Amino acid sequence: MEPQADIAVIGLAVMGQNLILNMNDHGFTVVAFNRTVSKVDAFLANEAKGTRIIGAHSLPEMVALLKRPRRVMLMVKAGSAVDEFIEHLLPLLEPGDIIIDGGNSLFEDTIRRVKYVESKGLLYIGTGVSGGEEGARHGPSIMPGGSPAAWEHLKPIFQAIAAKVADGSPCCDWVGEGGAGHYVKMTHNGIEYGDMQLICEAYQLLKGGLGLTPDEMHPVFAEWNQGELNSYLIEITRDILAKKDDDDGAPLVDKILDTAGQKGTGKWTVMSSQELGIPITLIAEAVYSRCVSAMKDQRVAAAKVFPPSNPRFAGDRQAWVNDIRRALYASKIISYTQGYLLMRAAAQHYGWNLNYGGIALMWRGGCIIRSAFLGDIKRAFDKHPGLTNLLLDPFFKKAIKGCARSWRKVVGTAVRKGIPVPAFSTALAFFDGLRSARLPANLLQAQRDYFGAHTYERVDQPRGQFFHTNWTGTGGRVASSTYTV
Ligand code: 6PG
Repeated sequence: MEPQADIAVIGLAVMGQNLILNMNDHGFTVVAFNRTVSKVDAFLANEAKGTRIIGAHSLPEMVALLKRPRRVMLMVKAGSAVDEFIEHLLPLLEPGDIIIDGGNSLFEDTIRRVKYVESKGLLYIGTGVSGGEEGARHGPSIMPGGSPAAWEHLKPIFQAIAAKVADGSPCCDWVGEGGAGHYVKMTHNGIEYGDMQLICEAYQLLKGGLGLTPDEMHPVFAEWNQGELNSYLIEITRDILAKKDDDDGAPLVDKILDTAGQKGTGKWTVMSSQELGIPITLIAEAVYSRCVSAMKDQRVAAAKVFPPSNPRFAGDRQAWVNDIRRALYASKIISYTQGYLLMRAAAQHYGWNLNYGGIALMWRGGCIIRSAFLGDIKRAFDKHPGLTNLLLDPFFKKAIKGCARSWRKVVGTAVRKGIPVPAFSTALAFFDGLRSARLPANLLQAQRDYFGAHTYERVDQPRGQFFHTNWTGTGGRVASSTYTV
């Protein structure tokens, strides 16, 4: 068998198939393999018919078809399947060959796999691929990390198939070593959770607060998509609101059960934020909001015990619509500020040299959170690569200030009316916390010292000196050790 293929892709679910077709469109010869080999034949006979795509019926056959260094991309379910394929592939490959995992793997698994595969003399890449089926087929956002030596061999393929922004730059670049690619993709997904929750809260405010129907909301989202909120998620929301049920022509969205699912990447983002001590409060609320939504039976029961009062907002409807838009925009700025704080902390902790403007560019097109807004973030980092907090960038500072009144009005009114807006309100609480030079943590430290001799620092002494007070006169003089997790 002549080695003629540029890359192998294992896993013929929809993402795998579409990536293969995308690679084929860009002139690469791909060999396709699937554990259930009948899927290979079905793919060649249907979607891949008339293309240059080759099918393999075994891993040895697949490997024999590959040019060197061999590039093998796994598009299989995250978890044990990835480890199993690595074990099957290692004896068939040779030093310098590259294994790529394009699934939503946990970054810690990727860190472990990079080390393991490199210990065998091969190279390993863990890459985020975002954009759903459509993105995979016509241009995803691709976030590769792992063994740096592999990048030159993957760059031509990945950058060719990735989405492009207006100036032609690909939404794919090297992210960093170890699990950096999967970490950035995980953060993308966390932000995706946040964006979706914010849009859902805006929808709830339009629906509950203003009594708008899906048909009435459709033009609202269409208009929002023309401005600073322009994004894929606003665009699909606009289209979802216009979609009618085939059976009776009523809005389909009203027929969908209000319990959200989740596959875990949002939860992982929050878990990592807890490890690193970074308050990504909006993403956390977005994850928990899905959990609250899943408590359907309890919600139905509680709604009978605590029936909502009239949730309608008084006053000019158009003015409210604009207030809600501004509250959504301000909350979104907070969410991305938090997401970038998280990536900065992770970079420091794991030793990655992340390019924050480059990440904004990778997310600018192709992925689920793609938006005009990411162009503004890219510009902020271009102007000031060391920017530690997005809110301090002049563009975002001005934007937040311009939205503040509406944001407070919307959150305040929603709270009074009993409309749940956890993401809008946690964003505002974070903002108010951040701009408080003094928080009540002095009292908290006093409480800790009172009951546990945990010590405190003083405002009139240099940082790093710890004091203990015998608050009751009955406690001892001995303090507990001072350490912070
Ligand atoms: C993407 C998506 C993709 C997937 C999510 C869904 O970037 O293309 O994020 O990775 O749709 O994992 O996540 P949930 O099922 O948890 O909502």
